[in-house]
Amino acid sequence: MSAPHAIPLARPLIGEEEEAAVLAALRSERLSLGSRLKEFEEAFARYLGVPYASACSSGTAGLHLALRAIGLSEGAEVITSPFSFVASANAILYERALPVFADIDPVSLNLDPDAAAERIGPRTRALLPVDIFGYPCEIEAFEALAARHGLGLVEDACEALGARYRDGSAVGSRGHPAVFGFYANKQITTGEGGMVAVADRALKEQIDSERNHGRGPELSLLEHERLGFNYRLSELAAALGIVQLGRLPELLAQRERVARLYHDALEQLAVATHAGEELLLPGAAPEGARRSWFVYVVALPRRCDRGAVIAQLARRGIASKPYLPAIHLLPHFRERFGYKKGMFPVCEEVSERSLALPFYPQMSEGEVQRVTEALAAALGAPAP
Ligand SMILES: Cc1ncc(COP(=O)(O)O)c(C=O)c1O
Repeated sequence: MSAPHAIPLARPLIGEEEEAAVLAALRSERLSLGSRLKEFEEAFARYLGVPYASACSSGTAGLHLALRAIGLSEGAEVITSPFSFVASANAILYERALPVFADIDPVSLNLDPDAAAERIGPRTRALLPVDIFGYPCEIEAFEALAARHGLGLVEDACEALGARYRDGSAVGSRGHPAVFGFYANKQITTGEGGMVAVADRALKEQIDSERNHGRGPELSLLEHERLGFNYRLSELAAALGIVQLGRLPELLAQRERVARLYHDALEQLAVATHAGEELLLPGAAPEGARRSWFVYVVALPRRCDRGAVIAQLARRGIASKPYLPAIHLLPHFRERFGYKKGMFPVCEEVSERSLALPFYPQMSEGEVQRVTEALAAALGAPAP
């Protein structure tokens, strides 16, 4: 009998339509700053229901441009989540501003608005909540805090395309800059890429200029109005993005299907492990909201050896990974800002117990079953 196939953590779903679109872009000989970029941006803005969207080379580039657009100065403090991909905090550092962390909510795993409020001080200039794992953040609370204290608001929605807040509005549609990412594990991919959704035309113009070496809107080659970067998205990537965006409802539905399969199988396993030491499954989205499934991350039972579980899954050809490390405990944050263990206990416990399981739209029922059986065996529990 041949060995079972390897099950990776993530896989993009790319079909013939994507191949044809990228080939057409390649054959057009217009490889950058062409019509596909504009078409992708307009389709994205329409999907979200926002006036403008600006495509860029990555989610990180989008965060950097969005933070510049709200006007951070050196030494300004930005309150953000320690439980995120490191780029959300790094982008603040790019502007010589300071990330100030506050603890997270144990169910949503998102920045807790009350904890964030406690961190507001005389140098606070902005809030940067993250919709982690596609779970919509408490945006109304952050909007209220920003309004009350005169703060800027940038949302890291890199993991949350397709999610909806409690009031049913689309994540990223409320007017403040919201940033999306299109790395290959995201809901849609352009290989590398990102998008900033904004309501304000002046911000859109600044972002478009700064992503393109500070050029003006007429794009004349050697006119540079301001400091800029090269954060452009290529026409090949935009072509891929247009097709992927068109397939978004199908991609989201497939992700939801896989999440449900995991939930149904692991619910029994969670009950089978010991009270107080349980395996925890992803929290349900609040009433009225919609989570956009990005990854399937469980919290392992408290006294479990995570390294041993990962190794056991790997022996069966199954990838898994701790997800995510607490940002404040990463070496450059500890060294620069003196962050220590114990400062954000909810985040630290979530981070220590977390395990991302394989998750992608085309994942079959059989693959989910293989993963859940392997996990049960690694935890010494009966097969689900
Ligand atoms: C929450 C979050 N922020 C920012 C990023 C950065 O996006 P990118 O990898 O496209 O730069 C990612 C994804 O990688 C992310 O998950």
